[in-house]
Amino acid sequence: MNKIIEIENISKTFETTKVLNDISFHIEQGSFFAIMGPSGSGKSTLLYNISGMDRPDTGRVTFNRKELTNLDDEKLSQIRLTQMGFIFQHSYLLKNLSIRDNIILPGIKSRKQSRKQVNDYADILFGKTGIKSVADHDIKEVSGGQLQRAAICRALINKPDILFGDEPTGALNSSASRDVMDIIGNVNREGTTIIIVTHDAKVAARADKVIFLIDGSIHNELTLGKYEEVMKSNREKKLLGWLEKQGF
Ligand SMILES: Nc1ncnc2c1ncn2[C@@H]1O[C@H](COP(=O)(O)OP(=O)(O)OP(=O)(O)O)[C@@H](O)[C@H]1O
Ligand SMILES: [Mg+2]
Repeated sequence: MNKIIEIENISKTFETTKVLNDISFHIEQGSFFAIMGPSGSGKSTLLYNISGMDRPDTGRVTFNRKELTNLDDEKLSQIRLTQMGFIFQHSYLLKNLSIRDNIILPGIKSRKQSRKQVNDYADILFGKTGIKSVADHDIKEVSGGQLQRAAICRALINKPDILFGDEPTGALNSSASRDVMDIIGNVNREGTTIIIVTHDAKVAARADKVIFLIDGSIHNELTLGKYEEVMKSNREKKLLGWLEKQGF
């Protein structure tokens, strides 16, 4: 298996607090990876540091064989725009644009596809995420679940190799959360690597592998293997048992 991301001994200190403490692991291309742990354990910081949104004080992050920790800010933001997708707890769509324009904007900015190709691909994504009927609506006119689906479309418009999510279902009810995870699961099945931070065992149970952070260190890891709907309850049970052992 190819490693899409390799993290070697990264540490990060904010003022006097060591938030990431000599973390090393790798992520295989095409895998679905989840990061769990108590609040304040460093999950978001880890995600930002491995996706080039922030830089570790020491250590190395390699993405698609390129050492991110060596790149200047401009090269990093180009990689983030063209090869990575991001979703957060809130959609962060621009309020004065329609859903469609929010999605098309990063597509045009990246110059990976022509304007027509970006538009056509946006329509495909609207179909896949079930928001075709609201694509031309103002973002104030749609539900939280629809906004989050739109955020997924925006994250995917440049056909990234990897999708990062920081609590992507954190603001959704359980049915909208399930829908969003079904979409993310399909994106993974089509070959995109997924890394998400979550508090929700139902969400993490979709992952092939889960790591548990405590105080900025990997406390433990659990391999679940590829997700299959039929095995869902077994996976959740296994994960919940494991989480209990971590004191979660
Ligand atoms: N920019 C920053 N400046 C100073 N301290 C920070 C900064 N970002 C995070 N921290 C601190 O680092 C620690 C880890 O924060 P982080 O957001 O990574 O935790 P988390 O595991 O994602 O928590 P949560 O589950 O609540 O989102 C916290 O103590 C936080 O206060
Ligand atoms: Mg966080």
